[in-house]
This record gives sequence, structure tokens and C-alpha cells, in this order.
Amino acid sequence: MSTNPTPPYFCPMFNSLQQKWGVSTRQFWIIFIAFGLTGTTAAFLTRYITGWLGFDASTHWGWKLLLRLSMLLIGYQALLLFYGALLGQWSFFWKYERKLLEKLKILKSQQPTAPTYRGGQKPLTPTSIAIFASGAGSNARKIIEHLRDHDSIRVALIVCNKPGAGVLAIADEYGIDTLLIEKERFFRGDAYVPELAARNIGFIVLAGFLWKIPGALILAYPRKIINIHPALLPGYGGKGMYGMHVHEAVIAAGEKKSGITIHYVNEKFDEGEHIFQSSCPIEQADTPESLAQKIHALEHRHFPIVIEKVILKDRSLQPTANS
Ligand code: GRF
Repeated sequence: MSTNPTPPYFCPMFNSLQQKWGVSTRQFWIIFIAFGLTGTTAAFLTRYITGWLGFDASTHWGWKLLLRLSMLLIGYQALLLFYGALLGQWSFFWKYERKLLEKLKILKSQQPTAPTYRGGQKPLTPTSIAIFASGAGSNARKIIEHLRDHDSIRVALIVCNKPGAGVLAIADEYGIDTLLIEKERFFRGDAYVPELAARNIGFIVLAGFLWKIPGALILAYPRKIINIHPALLPGYGGKGMYGMHVHEAVIAAGEKKSGITIHYVNEKFDEGEHIFQSSCPIEQADTPESLAQKIHALEHRHFPIVIEKVILKDRSLQPTANS
């Protein structure tokens, strides 16, 4: 059930960099190239400007330092944005520059400290959700598309435990932040609650996330974590029941129908309170693969709508400032 993120690089520093940046493998290399191009161009430009200004050995060191500093603080950063945008990574590099400008106190920090409606106030801002996914991400895509222009809900973060997972490329495509997590901190540390709170995450949706949810996270998000299971629970759930294993077991048992279950998450695998179920018939000719397709179609049709309904209901139950 639990798979470790596979370190894709021979150099451990690359792995931790990719985790820190929270990007897919493809994105990681593009970013690397952008940094490389920026460094080379900045060095070339500095040399060119030095010649153009007629700097030589007799030029005061202060002027040379001023040129180098201006190049580093302005030229290099502008080039980084330029190459970043050119290579389709504007959102990554803009975030990078923003952080720098915030550190230099040129821009005001945008980091929220806690979910908006934890102080007994009715949420006026949209509820930010985090999708936890580690697979292809077809459900994540449907959810993102369904909520794209929503007034009250926004997909703010994709949380993933597998570098290179398809869902990271989807996040990239829609310009959604990603957070790559690792096992030790998730299970034995703070379960990344501070990162979620910093992004004001009010709801968590599991869409193909295979790790068990630790107590610390459930405690921080009571009745605010939803999962989808590709079978009619309580049948065919629990440890080891995921992906094709579920459909193989259902077909092997000769079931006449299967379906999906959307449920709240508690500390036991697939045992939280049910929110919604929908079923489909199983024909004689069905195989685990054809059943998987039917189930995916059901998931795509219902999951985004159910998520929207659950969150809107939750928002409507939040006490107002006057109550
Ligand atoms: C879905 O079948 C879901 O039920 C299960 O994981 C699968 C994820 O598929 N929890 P995808 O990555 O969204 O395509």
C-alpha cells in the first residue's frame, strides 16, 4: 500500500531540490536549463557591458562591484523571468522572484497563517482545497476543471508522494502549486499541517493517494478529508485494495455490479462515513481493465460534483460573525 517516492537521480541533492521545489521531473530539468541559460547570459552581458563602459585594470573597484551587484540584483533576476517564461515556467519563476522580493522587503508577504474560517467567522474568501494524488491524476484533472471558475472553492494545491507522477504535470498545466511529501515527515512528523495551514487549505480531497492518512492530519481536518474508492464499500476495501487489485477481486468474485464510494476519511483504510455511492453493472465479458474504465467514467462524472456539494454545505454551516 505504501510506496516510497523513487529517487530518480544519482545525485541526492537533485532529489531534495525537486522535493523542495515541488515540481515534476520534466519541470525540474526545464528549470535547471533556465538557470543555466540565465547564468551564461548574465556572465556574457556583464563582460559586454564592462567592455562597453571601458572598464579596465585602472577602474576603481567600487564601480566594478556596483556593476556586478546591479547585474545580480536586476539583470540576473530579469533574465531568469525571461527564460522561465520562454520555457513555459513563468509561475515557478515568478513565485521564486516574489519570495526574493518579499525577503528584501520590496513586496509585502502574501503568506496566510491559518484557514480563514477557523476563527468562528463565516468564510468570505473561497475555500482552498488540496488534492492529494500520486497517480495519473485523471480525477484531479476533472476536479480542477469543474472548480476552475468557482466563486467559493479553489484548488490551491496538489500534494503528491511520487516524483514524476502524472498528476504533477497536470498541476503544472493549470498553474497549481505542488507539494512533494516524504514518508518520515508525513507519518512521524507534523504530517505537513503547517504547509497546508500556510496555504489556507480548508479541505482535503484524496484522488488516488495510496498512503494511509496519519492521525495528525485527521485531527487538523476533522470531517474535512474526502476519499474516493473504486468499489462499493464496505466490500473490496481496506489495506491492499487499490487500483487494479480491486477490479480483479470484484471480477474474480463474480459480482454482478461494482461502483464507487465517496467517503470521509478516518484512521482506518476505507472505513469512514459514506457520502455517496453509484454503481454500474458488470457484464459477462467484462475484464478488470474494462471494469476499471467503467469505474473511472463514474468517478469523473460524480466526484467533482460531490466535492462541490460537500464543501458548499460545510461553508453554509460555518457560524457567522454574529452567531
Ligand atoms: C481512482 O480509481 C480512485 O478511485 C482511486 O485511485 C484512482 C486514481 O485514478 N482512489 P486517477 O489517478 O485519478 O486516474
